[in-house]
Amino acid sequence: MLIASLKPRTMGGTTNTGLLSYALARAGYPVTCYDADESLQLAAWAREVDDFPCQVHEADTPSFAETIYPGMDHGRLNVVDAGHAENHPDIVDSILEVADLVIVTVSPTKPDYDRLTRPERGTALAKVIRRSAALRETGEPPATVVLLNRCQAGSNSPKQYGDLLTNGGHDGTLPRWNVLTSRIPRREPIASAVGYPCNKPERKAPYDALVTELKRLGHLPEPDASR
Ligand SMILES: Nc1ncnc2c1ncn2[C@@H]1O[C@H](COP(=O)(O)OP(=O)(O)OP(=O)(O)O)[C@@H](O)[C@H]1O
Ligand SMILES: [Mg+2]
Repeated sequence: MLIASLKPRTMGGTTNTGLLSYALARAGYPVTCYDADESLQLAAWAREVDDFPCQVHEADTPSFAETIYPGMDHGRLNVVDAGHAENHPDIVDSILEVADLVIVTVSPTKPDYDRLTRPERGTALAKVIRRSAALRETGEPPATVVLLNRCQAGSNSPKQYGDLLTNGGHDGTLPRWNVLTSRIPRREPIASAVGYPCNKPERKAPYDALVTELKRLGHLPEPDASR
């Protein structure tokens, strides 16, 4: 299957892609990553450390669906890190054509919430995801969840923004998102994860909880022990 890690702009997407992949591998899944952000930071991370969990293929192309997807081993968990949806809508469109699960990283802050729900320029990500249905084999948009990250311990903002996203904004007129109960905390060891070894307790526990929740929600298959 293909899991797409998306965000409207810089929000912690590469950090989450790498550490989620690490958690998936430790949970027993065969994982392969694709870097569809032209900054290629996920690919560099994998090169720079010994314990990055898998291979990362460069895949920053608007023909992702035609040139990258067909060559994947679909028995593995393929995880793609996309760049800014705002700046690279063509690549994001192509990923959405074929993704099975979309994880949108958002921080519970006003600027990040606004960029997700009401961007001043460009198309809101919810609409981009919805319209991908027209190009998908199923005729439906991919299953999509929101992962709140950089959540400050003790702050009310994760609940506040989580509720707004779930309920369609203050007046219920905006698109409604499925917000995961797993949250990634705002922590220095996670802030400094990209380019450094994955094996630190703070870089594991929140992502293990995320994998558990994704399994519970039926978004992940059982790991196949025979592989
Ligand atoms: N859980 C966290 N706690 C604190 N800071 C974080 C956390 N996750 C990411 N960050 C910080 O957020 C910034 C963006 O992280 P990252 O590079 O993963 O985001 P991105 O969405 O991939 O960005 P880009 O647009 O460059 O691709 C970095 O400065 C990183 O240190
Ligand atoms: Mg990135």
